[in-house]
Formats: sequence, structure tokens, C-alpha cells
Amino acid sequence: MSRILTGIQSTGTPHLGNLLGAIVPAIEMSNKSENEAFLFIADLHSFTQIKNPTELKENTLSTAATWLSFGVDVHKTVFYRQSQIPEVTELMWYLLCLFPYSRLSLAHGFKDKADRLGDVNGGLFTYPMLMAADILIYDAEFVPVGKDQEQHIEFTRDVASRFHAQFKETFVIPEGLVNENTKIIPGTDGQKMSKSRNNFINIFLPDKQLRKQIMSIQTDSKELEEPKDPATCNVFALYKLLATDEQIQNMTELYVNGGYGYGHAKQALFDLIVEKYKNQRERYWYLMEHPEEIIAALKIGEDKARKYAKTVLERVRATVGY
Ligand code: ADP
Ligand code: TRP
Repeated sequence: MSRILTGIQSTGTPHLGNLLGAIVPAIEMSNKSENEAFLFIADLHSFTQIKNPTELKENTLSTAATWLSFGVDVHKTVFYRQSQIPEVTELMWYLLCLFPYSRLSLAHGFKDKADRLGDVNGGLFTYPMLMAADILIYDAEFVPVGKDQEQHIEFTRDVASRFHAQFKETFVIPEGLVNENTKIIPGTDGQKMSKSRNNFINIFLPDKQLRKQIMSIQTDSKELEEPKDPATCNVFALYKLLATDEQIQNMTELYVNGGYGYGHAKQALFDLIVEKYKNQRERYWYLMEHPEEIIAALKIGEDKARKYAKTVLERVRATVGY
């Protein structure tokens, strides 16, 4: 049995890139009988960026509804909000006091955000130690993350080792599972799909708005009759990620034969998304209309998570002398 853990920030409704790049693979891993999984919503991390209470709450609900609609099993998996486990912030404090300021100031994630965001606060700077606490407080063994989070896992291993050297063996040293092959899902402009680039596809939008997002995908200006190159087309790139082999084959022929416009291809992509994610979209809308069900689902995990966190924190408190 391996204990895996991963968190996702609730900074908006997850988009197709988040789904295919992170959420779907994590759920598949969590549903395997040989794994024991902790999946959580990093809503304390979101507070570094979001200071509007309504927005904070909405984002948490929509992120949780996304995970639930894509099949998190709340009885098998420990599924919870980070903010409901206050033990994690106490552990962060101990870790912060053991980790050199100079190393924190070298964090790529911080530098990247400090360059882009207006609100460069202390929480953004100490963010990696909250993430280390998230991982260490559950004795997690494996942490699946995107490439951008690799350094944060290194910091986690580093601070745990420093703690051991200073006191005694207390934590499980986790390993990051960085999938080098994880596809970067392109956005409507062909760049990496991202909330901050505003090039994302939100599959949970009502049909009309979803269709509008899909129609905004950028293409070249080839006329309808001309043959088109599937290899360089953003619409095809997204279609290919979701379609069956047979559908991909058919679409390839339509492209190379000509007489098939980008408007047709976009419509086909829209139809595919609506059909493929019919159940997930319905489940998501249902849950967003019934937030009490989302909270009830999270509470199941929060009770379990809190028990684990308390045990590990007790171990830490005893070690450091409280
Ligand atoms: P965003 O860039 O939209 O703010 P996050 O940084 O919150 O997304 O990413 C959350 C998770 O989704 C991470 O594990 C990240 O690697 C994954 N992810 C985000 N965008 C993509 C993408 N375009 N393709 C693949 N995975 C992605
Ligand atoms: N920092 C991660 C991200 O932005 C989210 C996160 C917070 C996380 N705590 C974590 C991921 C612990 C893995 C483990 O994507």
C-alpha cells in the first residue's frame, strides 16, 4: 500500500488543462486498490492571491465539485479542505524556523509569481513551507505534481532532513512523482492552457458559453476548400486529446481532403466535449446547486485527515520540546 497525496489550489474553476494534466490522472491513481490517497483543496494557499470571501468560497466549491464529478470516491480517498486542518499551519511554523531564508528566496515559484502578481505578500514567500507541512503531516510517500512544483518537493525533503539532523527521525521523506510525459494541454491560443493566460476552456460552462470559448480557438486563415494540416492546428490538438482513434482518423481525413472549415472542426470539438463529459457536467451543476452535499462529502475526509494530522503533530511537538 502506498500513500499518495496531492493538492490543488482553488484559484478558479479547473479548466480542461487542469483536468487532463492533473485531476483525471490523480483520481485514477487514487482509485487503485494498492494506493491510499489524500487529495485536498489547497484553499489556504489560494488565500495568497484571493482576498474576497465570496470568491474564496465559490472557488473552493467549484474545485471540490470538479473533483467529485470526475469520480473521487470519498470513502476510499481522504478528500478535504486544507483550511479545515489547522494542525498544518502549526507544523508550517516549525518547518519555517528550520529552513534558511536564503533558500526560500531562491524558489522559482515565488520569483515567477513575484514578477507577475501585484500582491507580493509574505504568504507567497513562505508558501513552500506550507506545502511541505501539507505533505509531512500525513506521512505521505508519493506526491504526484506538475513539473513547476518539483522544487517545492525538493524543499520538503530538505526541510524534513534538516529536522531529522536537528532532532531525530520524525517524518517520512516523500518522493515527488513528476511525470515528464504529462502532456501540456494547449489553450485557445496554442500556448499552455492556464487560468492566468485567459486561454482556457471551462467544460462546465453552459452550452452557449462553452461553444463561444471553443469558437475563439485561434487558427490560420485557410479557406474552407483548402486542405489543412492537422499537425499545426489548435482545434485538432484538443480534439485529438479527447477523441477515439476512429474519430481522430476521420477528422484527419476531413482536414487533409479540404472542403472542411475550421468552424466545422470547432463544432465537432464542442459536440465531442458535450457528449464525452455529459455525466460530469450534470453532476457538477447538480452539486453547485447543492453546496451542502459538497461540504458533507468534504467533511468525511476532514474527520479522517484531522486524526492523522493530530497524531503526527503530537510526534513533532514532543520532539521539539512542547
Ligand atoms: P493554472 O496554470 O491554470 O493556474 P495551476 O498552476 O493551478 O493551473 O495547475 C494545477 C494543476 O494542473 C498542476 O498540477 C498543473 O501541472 C496542471 N496543469 C495546469 N495547466 C495545465 C496544462 N495546460 N496542461 C497540463 N497540465 C496542466
Ligand atoms: N502548490 C501546489 C500547486 O500550485 C498545490 C499544493 C499545495 C500541493 N500543497 C500541496 C501539491 C501538497 C502537492 C502537495 O499546484
